[in-house]
Amino acid sequence: MPKALITGITGQDGSYLTELLLSQEYEVHGLIRKASTFNTQRIEHLYRDPHNGISNRLFLHYGDVANTGNLVDLIYNVQPDEIYHLAAQSHVRVSFDLPLYTGDVTGLGTLRILEAIRKSGLNTRFYQASSSEMFGSASPPQNEDTQFEPQSPYAAAKAYAYWVTRNYRQGYGIFASNGILFNHESPRRGETFVTRKITRALAAIKAGKQQYLYLGNLDAKRDWGYAPDYVAAMWKMLQLDAPDDFVIGTGEAHSVREFLEEAFSYVGMDWQEFVRIDERYFRPNEVDYLMADYSKAKKVIEWEPRVMFRDLVRVMVDADLEMTGLESPGQGRKILEQHHGAWHRWDSQVVEGLG
Ligand code: NAP
Ligand code: GDD
Repeated sequence: MPKALITGITGQDGSYLTELLLSQEYEVHGLIRKASTFNTQRIEHLYRDPHNGISNRLFLHYGDVANTGNLVDLIYNVQPDEIYHLAAQSHVRVSFDLPLYTGDVTGLGTLRILEAIRKSGLNTRFYQASSSEMFGSASPPQNEDTQFEPQSPYAAAKAYAYWVTRNYRQGYGIFASNGILFNHESPRRGETFVTRKITRALAAIKAGKQQYLYLGNLDAKRDWGYAPDYVAAMWKMLQLDAPDDFVIGTGEAHSVREFLEEAFSYVGMDWQEFVRIDERYFRPNEVDYLMADYSKAKKVIEWEPRVMFRDLVRVMVDADLEMTGLESPGQGRKILEQHHGAWHRWDSQVVEGLG
């Protein structure tokens, strides 16, 4: 039985990746932070239910990627075949408020894990969650050869992590790969990222619980894909014969304004009645236009996105309406049944087909 260690297991991607690996008969170990409130909601359905037959293959360990000692112990004790390093301070706007913390966790965190692998002497494969944000102001479409022009402390920290991953691959022969992922979203997306902020607010407005939605720059364009498609790419990268770096995205870009239009019109509402601009959400530097050229991934790991922009918006709107107790138009649910079958759900219920 292959063994994987996931840092950031409680995040959006960590939860979907855990579902994927458990469905492929992995033993999964996850690093979680001690918090005074619950931080395991996204994986609760996987380890709390003793009847689903998978709890005995999922193990959680307390730790922090800012702490070298616990990482060395953990890696040595677990002896994983694969490490998916997803933990990060992942919010770009927040990185301007917490630049040093972001550098430590998002940048040095990667180095700490690579060092732990090197010192342990284990033959572990390593995945680094690199980001399209590293491209910053470089012209689209961006691919593996595009020069990085990071525009935030977050992007600079990710660029550092990208390079140390390559250094350890070249210098020490570690199987270490960078997945340069463009924005990917889902009903489990953190509530302060713009897509989820919009779909949650839409549901709250429809339920009469919220009057306005306050946003920043509506002109920024992003290449938004569906998170479960993207965690499959992470796994594929680590199954190759040799480590490499890959851009993962949909090849389509849309503005925040277009996301609003698509989401509100899906439920027959006019977004302009409900959206207000708040300066607070503007960033000192903005990344204007990200759009992936994922042709290398298509060719080498045979990866392609299955859920594109319009369907992604519908999936997220349906989910937030239903989570708010409202009826949804249901197109999103149909799309998921068509593309992903039953191996994951947007709610945190028992996942069918695992075990
Ligand atoms: P996310 O939902 O924000 O999850 C981040 C995870 O990191 C959470 O589990 C969080 O734990 C954990 N974490 C944060 N600081 C930590 C620390 N000091 N020690 C240990 N764990 C820590 O992020 P995501 O969207 O799943 O993204 C996963 C990774 O991919 C991140 O590295 C992100 O930067 C990168 N990425 C994301 C995207 C995207 O569009 N989603 C695109 C490119 C790259 P808590 O739950 O306790 O907070
Ligand atoms: N969060 C947020 N909140 N963003 C807003 C808002 C708002 O109220 N209003 C406008 N935006 C704009 C931001 O200025 C940005 O241009 C765009 O919406 C997307 O912002 P986010 O959803 O916060 O994502 P991001 O692109 O900055 O970063 C995400 O994607 C990266 C990959 O490109 C994160 O997931 C990063 O961790 C990831 O690396």
